[in-house]
Amino acid sequence: MRDLTQLFNDVYEKGNLYGVDRALQPDPLRNTNGVRPYSVAIQGGAFGDEGKGKIVDEICHRWGRLSGNVVVYRWNGGANAGHTVVVGGKKIVLHQLPSGVLTENATVVLGKGMALHPGDLVTEIREAEALAGGKLPAALKIDAQAVLAVDTHRAYEQALREWHHGGAGATGRGIAPAYADVIYRHALRMEDLIAIDWADRCNAHYDFYHTLIAGLEAVKPADERVPLAEYQVAVLRNGKTEKIMVGTRAEFLEKLAGHRSVLFSYIQDVHGFIRETWLESKRPYVFEGAQGVGLDPRFGVYPDVTGSDTTFSGIQSSTEGIVQPEMIAVRASAIKATYTSSVGVRRLPTQMEEAAAKRIRDDAQEYGATTGRPRDIAAIDIPCLRFFCKVTRATHLVLTHLDIAYADTPIPVCTHYTPKDAGRTAQLSYRPDQSFLDSVQPHYINLPAWDGKAVSTAREISQLPYAALQYIAFLTTALGAQPLMGTTGPDRDALVNWVTW
Ligand code: IMP
Repeated sequence: MRDLTQLFNDVYEKGNLYGVDRALQPDPLRNTNGVRPYSVAIQGGAFGDEGKGKIVDEICHRWGRLSGNVVVYRWNGGANAGHTVVVGGKKIVLHQLPSGVLTENATVVLGKGMALHPGDLVTEIREAEALAGGKLPAALKIDAQAVLAVDTHRAYEQALREWHHGGAGATGRGIAPAYADVIYRHALRMEDLIAIDWADRCNAHYDFYHTLIAGLEAVKPADERVPLAEYQVAVLRNGKTEKIMVGTRAEFLEKLAGHRSVLFSYIQDVHGFIRETWLESKRPYVFEGAQGVGLDPRFGVYPDVTGSDTTFSGIQSSTEGIVQPEMIAVRASAIKATYTSSVGVRRLPTQMEEAAAKRIRDDAQEYGATTGRPRDIAAIDIPCLRFFCKVTRATHLVLTHLDIAYADTPIPVCTHYTPKDAGRTAQLSYRPDQSFLDSVQPHYINLPAWDGKAVSTAREISQLPYAALQYIAFLTTALGAQPLMGTTGPDRDALVNWVTW
C-alpha cells in the first residue's frame, strides 16, 4: 500500500506529476506484448452511473471511423442500467443496448452474462431504429444463453421486499430473481424463447412463479392475498411509478409471443463469432460493463448489491472463457474524478452533507437515468476505490466529471478509516459490507481544487489546470492505475485523452 503522506508530499510539495501531464508511452492500445491489441474494457469503478456510456460511445465513434467494424460486447446487467445518448439533438435512454448500436457497421453483442427483458428490449430497439432513421446502424447479436428477466421476476422481487430488506434499493427490474434462477437451475433463457416448444417452457415458468408468489402470499389473511395474474408491479421510470400487470398465463404468453417475433432473428449462438473475431480477426473490441464494482454481489456494499458480475471477470464467464480479462490491452475503471454518486439504500461512510451534495447533484444532474431517483453524493474514498481497483486488477482509470470542481472549495478525499469507537485508532482495511462501513470513521485530506467551468473547455491534457493535473497524479497513483481518459463536460467532445484512439 502506497504511503499517502509521502505521495502527498511528492505531488504537492515536490511537484512530481507521475507522468500524467503527457500521453501514455507506449500507447497501451497498440500493445502487442502478450495482449490483444485494440481491445479495451470499461467497468464502473464505483457505484454505477460513472458516465461509462459516453466513453464507450466515444471509443466506438473513433474506432468506427478508423476500421468501421468495431465489436461492442456487453457482459452483464439488463434493464437496471441506463444512460442517455444524444444524437443530432435527439435524446434516447439506452438500458440494455450498448451505445455502439448507433455506430455504423459495428457489431453489438448482448452477452450470456446479461439478464434481458424482451419487452423493454423491443421498445429500445424501436427507439434506436427511429433515431437512426429506420434501421439499426449496427448489427445486433443476442447470446441465446442470456437469461430472461421478465415481469414474473419483477413481481416476485416486489413480493420478496416484504420479507427481507436486501432488495430495498433495487431498481425493480427483477434482476436478482432472474440471476437466482440460473443458480436454481430453472432459468428461462433466450434460447427458450426461440425453441419449438417455447410456449410450454414459458407456461411452465409462469406456473412456477405463480406458485412462488402464492407461497409468499399464503401468510396473509385470505382476502388480502393477490395471485400472480392480478399482481400489479410498481416500476419506477424517470421518477414516475408505472403499474405493470403480469396478467394471466395467456396474457403473459401473448406478450412474449409479440416480443419473440421481433427478437427471433437476433438470438443466436454467438460463441463462434466471438472466437473468430477475438482470436483471429483484428476487429477492435470494446467491452462495456453495466453498474459498478460497488454493486457487485461479492465486492459491493452487501446487501444492497445487484445480481450480475459487474467486474472484468464477468467478461470471462460471459464469453465462456474465450476472452481472458488479462488479454484485454486496457482494463479501465471509470470513476467520477472529484466525488462519488450512489443510488440505492447503501450508506457510504463519506456521504456529504446535504448543502455540498446538492450543489454537485444539481450541477452534474445526478438523477438516475432509469428510475429518476436523486443520487446520494459522497466524497472520494481511497480505501474503497483502491479495494475496487485491486480486486478487479484495473490497469487504467477513466476520470469523468472533471468539470465538477469549485475553485473556492477544496476536494475532500478520504485517506483511511479508523473504528468509530472512541479510543481505537488502528487503521482498518476496507471490507465490502454495510455493517462494516457503518462502524468506521473516515479521515480526510482536502486537496486543492480548480475552476470547473474553465476545465469544461479543455480537450487536451495540456489544457488542464495544474491543480487538476496534481489531483489526477495523486488520485491515480494512490489507486495504482494510469489515467486513460477524462471527461470535462456533458458534450460529446468534452474529453481529454491520454492515449490515441
Ligand atoms: P438491482 O440491480 O435492480 O437488483 O439493484 C441493486 C442495487 O444496485 C440497487 O441499489 C440499485 O439502485 C443499484 N443499481 C442497479 N443498477 C444500477 C445502475 O445502473 N446505476 C446505479 N445503481 C444501480
